[in-house]
Amino acid sequence: MRITLRLIVSLISVVASVAFFSAYLQVGHEQEKQQEELERRSRLLAESLQETIEPIMKRGASSNLQRIVERFGNRERLAGVAVYDTKGNSLAITSSLASALPVAPQAVTESLKKSVDVGAFDTIHKKEMHLYALPLRARGKTVGALTLFHDATYIQTHLSQIWRRTFFRIIVQMVLIAIVTLLIVRWSFVGPIAQIAEWMKQLRSGESVRPLFLPKENLFAPLTREATTLARHLSTAKSAVEEEAKLRQTAESLWTPDRLKEHIRTKLHGRPLFVLSNREPYMHLHRDRRIEAIVPAGGLVTALEPILRACGGTWIAHGAGDADWEVVDEAGRIKVPPDDPRYVLKRVALSKEEETGYYYGFSNEGLWPLCHIAHNRPVFRPEDWEHYQKVNLKFVQAALEELENVEEPCVLVQDYHFALFPRLLKERRPDARIALFWHIPWPNPEAFGICPWQREILYGMLGADLIGFHTQFHCNNFLDTVDRALESRIDWERFAVQKGRHTTLVKPFPISVAFPSVFQDIPAEDGPGPDRGALLKELGLKVKYLGVGVERMDYTKGVLERFRAIERFLEKHTRYQKEFTFVQLGAPSRAHIRRYHDFLAEVEAEAERINWKFKLKEWRPIIFLKKHHSHQEILPYYRNADFCMVTSLHDGMNLVAKEFVASREDEGGVLILSQFAGASRELRDALIVNPYDAEQTAEAIRYALEMDSEERFARMRRMRETVREHNIYRWAGNLITELIQIRLEQQPVERIT
Ligand code: G6P
Repeated sequence: MRITLRLIVSLISVVASVAFFSAYLQVGHEQEKQQEELERRSRLLAESLQETIEPIMKRGASSNLQRIVERFGNRERLAGVAVYDTKGNSLAITSSLASALPVAPQAVTESLKKSVDVGAFDTIHKKEMHLYALPLRARGKTVGALTLFHDATYIQTHLSQIWRRTFFRIIVQMVLIAIVTLLIVRWSFVGPIAQIAEWMKQLRSGESVRPLFLPKENLFAPLTREATTLARHLSTAKSAVEEEAKLRQTAESLWTPDRLKEHIRTKLHGRPLFVLSNREPYMHLHRDRRIEAIVPAGGLVTALEPILRACGGTWIAHGAGDADWEVVDEAGRIKVPPDDPRYVLKRVALSKEEETGYYYGFSNEGLWPLCHIAHNRPVFRPEDWEHYQKVNLKFVQAALEELENVEEPCVLVQDYHFALFPRLLKERRPDARIALFWHIPWPNPEAFGICPWQREILYGMLGADLIGFHTQFHCNNFLDTVDRALESRIDWERFAVQKGRHTTLVKPFPISVAFPSVFQDIPAEDGPGPDRGALLKELGLKVKYLGVGVERMDYTKGVLERFRAIERFLEKHTRYQKEFTFVQLGAPSRAHIRRYHDFLAEVEAEAERINWKFKLKEWRPIIFLKKHHSHQEILPYYRNADFCMVTSLHDGMNLVAKEFVASREDEGGVLILSQFAGASRELRDALIVNPYDAEQTAEAIRYALEMDSEERFARMRRMRETVREHNIYRWAGNLITELIQIRLEQQPVERIT
């Protein structure tokens, strides 16, 4: 109430002062105008009278004067007329004035003295009067003065009226201001504040809390954001505590974000964690004249982001978004996630040539097809290799800046973009503990052997203290490759390589997703998204069964094979025509590479061919949604589909499979999973298929749709149990524990020659 009062008083004071001041100016102006008008009238009247009086004065017939004066003196507002001789003695004066003016007024003496017209205001008979004195002349000499007296009290009356009106207006304004202020305060502040208070009360008491919807005004935007974040933290903390309590009961050891945070804090003695990858967790893009942060598609980001969210630290990556450099500080740093900053993202800038050679060229036209057996020839160009080496060094320099004052820093290097990084960093910082995690498969030595720089790559990788793959099979392939290509000692008991004085452990760490909340960037209060009916309606579908595939459009993902299996399924089981649709969400990827560009066109053409083949009114068997989908957009598909298809031709792990399982809180849905994806080793309750076998995959689709609900629930429950236990927090916990336990040689390693 005191604030409201203060607001009202301040507003009223300002408005009243302005009104008073303008009234004051108006009154002044009006007074001046009225006085000038009066003076003008007096002069005109005096001049016309002068013409009558001067001849009389000339003739010396002063007896006529009194008559003229009396006759003239009764005009409107004219209080009287007087004629004076040169000494100021009255020769004639209106009788009503005579007693009040025993001597000539000042204006008359001044007019006689200077022989000029004089106008002035004076109080006569307690009345405000205007006097106009005008010299009378005869034969070129002043012989007296004519004076007109006007009643000027009407001017004051008029001015008082103005003041009265002003006061009245101010009072009305005051009342209106008070009422409007009270209403605004009530609607805009008191209401929302009461709403926040009620919402917080519910939050505190642990009742299920609805999202906080406050007016969209800027004033409340930061508050809503902070309150929402607070609620999110509280609910995460609450579920972590509940989870812990559950764990204590069942004596299980589930990894949670808090547990990982604590684990890393103890293991690293409070030092920050460093992660390095090519792809950044948030990309800032210009969209509709705004800058928007998007989460790029791909398993690496899905897996690592929750770790950094939980533990903080610094993530060094290529700043590839077109607005990336507009939002960072001079050192290329920005705190993310944008709506709830938890860790630092350090962006590294690459020139177009560097990006072309290192990322598109050597990494994605060379190493990517080399490691994936998907029947796509790798291309190795010496100029790409040059850029690859240079960019690896550039990232080392960026990392060195970040590691400057940190002793024994822990650096987690990600993927095939940075095979040379571990040794380059180790040479410069022998005290750094370096783990390299290879997110893609490692082929057999013969396949890898076609790379002209295989020795340099292996040597670079062996600068790491720990190298991780998803499966033991990939570890074995790697060790075999090293054995074949480099002079080194392989310890098959410990799965380690000794090269020179340096030892590298090689171990499997099957990567995973965050569980239970798989997509951490979706605020819990945003709810579950559209249900199945709404989703089908959005797509314009009237089908009974829904299948889904979610991919970065990559030729290794087996999308064409999947479509052919769907075609086969519809051919064989015609009763599903018009009853079933498959939705393929596809994020365009690496589009500057011809193979990717062609692949996208092939997928579109294949979807079109199949749709045309089965064309029936209002029904399409395949819907291909070619665009980048946010996690928020993907989730409803996972949750509402009867099955999800992952048909990679070769895949390190494939996190879409695990995301789908983690999203199915209802324990429904079936996973159809390629035997060539690393995930098939863990998710044994999926329907495992060979994607090259269209017949078998088509049968898996039928089986998925016809599976009895008990079996479906049982399979999903077991898969969820696996993902829950082997979530991303456990992955990070194990990797870091292993890395910390390694005994560092602390001696300089040999330099790459
Ligand atoms: C795979 C790779 C990641 C990569 C992701 C997305 O999962 O292992 O390193 O980030 O694909 O590909 P992109 O080229 O867009 O980063």
